[in-house]
Amino acid sequence: SGTMGYALALAARRRGAAVTLVSGPTALPAPPGVQFVPVVTALEMRDAVLARLEKATVVIKAAAVADYRPAVRQAAKIKKSAGPLNLALERNPDILAEIARRKGSRIVVGFAMESEDLLENARAKLMGKGADFIVANDLTQTGAGFGTDTNIVRILDWEGGDERLPLLGKLEVAGVILDRVKQIRGTGRIRDGR
Ligand code: C5P
Repeated sequence: SGTMGYALALAARRRGAAVTLVSGPTALPAPPGVQFVPVVTALEMRDAVLARLEKATVVIKAAAVADYRPAVRQAAKIKKSAGPLNLALERNPDILAEIARRKGSRIVVGFAMESEDLLENARAKLMGKGADFIVANDLTQTGAGFGTDTNIVRILDWEGGDERLPLLGKLEVAGVILDRVKQIRGTGRIRDGR
C-alpha cells in the first residue's frame, strides 16, 4: 500500500530532513514538503533511486518491489486464444543490494516481510544485501505487514543486534527507525559497502 514508506517520509520531514520519496503507484497523497518522484516500474525505481544516491545520506527501502517483470512488454492488448497463456518473466534488479554496494558512509535500511523462519530469512537478507539494519515483519502476526496501519517489527542490525518492538502505528515505527538511524550516525558504527 505504501503506508510504511509514506509514514517514513512524513516522519523524516517533520524532523527537518530534506526528503525525497520515490514511490510506485499508491492511493496515498504525497506528504507535504517532500520531493515526490513517482515511478511505475521497478526499473524506473532503480534509476530514480540511483540518480539521487549521490546526494543522499540515508536511504530507506520500504517499497515492496516486484521480483519479476514480463520479459516482453506488449504494446497492444494480448488477444485470448483457446489454450493457456504462458508469460515469460525475468528478474528485476535488487535495488537495495545495488544501493548498499555503493553506500560509502551512507546508512542504508531495508525491510523484510516474512511468512516463515522470520529471523533466519531476515538475517540472511540483512547480510546478503548489505544494509545497516533490516526492519523485519512477521506476516503471520495480526496487525503486521501489508494493508494495515500498524506493524509488529523486529530490528536486526549488521552487528548482530536484535530488537523486538510491540504493536505500533506505522508512524511510530517510522520514529523508531529514524531514532536508530540517528543513533548509528552518533556512534559512527556504519557498515562498509561491499
Ligand atoms: O528480497 P526481499 O524482496 O524480501 O527484500 C526486501 C527488501 O529489499 C526491501 O527493503 C525492498 O525494498 C528491497 N528490494 C529492492 N529491490 C527488489 C526487491 C526488494 O530494493 N527488486
